[in-house]
Amino acid sequence: MSINKEVKRVTTHVLQAMKAQQEKITMLTGYDYSMARILDAAGVDVILVGDSASNVMAGHETTLPITLDQMIYHASSVVRAVKRALVVVDLPFGSYQGNSKAALDSTIRIMKESGAHAVKLEGGAEIQESIKRILTAGVPVMGHLGLTPQSIYKFGTYTVRAREEAEAQKLLDDAQLLEELGCFAIVLEKIPADLAREVTSRLHVPTIGIGAGANTDGQVLVTHDLLGITKDFKPRFLRRYLELFDLIQAAVEQYIQDVRSRDFPNEQEQY
Ligand code: KIV
Repeated sequence: MSINKEVKRVTTHVLQAMKAQQEKITMLTGYDYSMARILDAAGVDVILVGDSASNVMAGHETTLPITLDQMIYHASSVVRAVKRALVVVDLPFGSYQGNSKAALDSTIRIMKESGAHAVKLEGGAEIQESIKRILTAGVPVMGHLGLTPQSIYKFGTYTVRAREEAEAQKLLDDAQLLEELGCFAIVLEKIPADLAREVTSRLHVPTIGIGAGANTDGQVLVTHDLLGITKDFKPRFLRRYLELFDLIQAAVEQYIQDVRSRDFPNEQEQY
């Protein structure tokens, strides 16, 4: 019997047992109550309240503008919907970098005000003080290495990271450090598949990949990409399971036509 099917509530320990048993972990982003209910009912293991809400929900070009208050709003909506999945929340840009006290304060607000179960931070050695301080407060931390979108203005593009030896070595060192600090899992975003395999085989904690190939312990996608709601975003790593933008547009066009033609509402649809 798979661990995954037996558990009533996914915890960080369940994820680590899944790695040990070589069971793949599934993670998707969620930002609101209705979608989170569907994701949880479908049985996804982890719902990430990602700061990609900045792009997907608010229409910003980057993840930088989203605020701590806005992340808490999204996270509390998701938590109200979820019965089984682990809910992980991104610490937004500016709420943890360079100041471990600020990192702890931001985390405490997220945990108290949303009821979420863990936080995620982008980066390696440079944010280790923040990670340590959050962990000493008893809050589980998920790491995030490779393409870290909060640093987009440092990178300049969203292309694959760590192709060069020096950056690949730093990523390996950072992954090791995050495990030693006590992170329960690490997201690997947009790095070569061979490097992701190497990181995954060296660590005891699970890796969760996005654009990092098949050899990570789990996979994550932005739900709106997977469902085809974000119409024009088609990177190579993305598999679209629906074309919802087109389906919803067609449904709305039909509704407009039905109202204009006086077909809706009909006699059965009125009191
Ligand atoms: O914010 C987000 O959606 C993320 C995932 C892409 C991992 O960090």
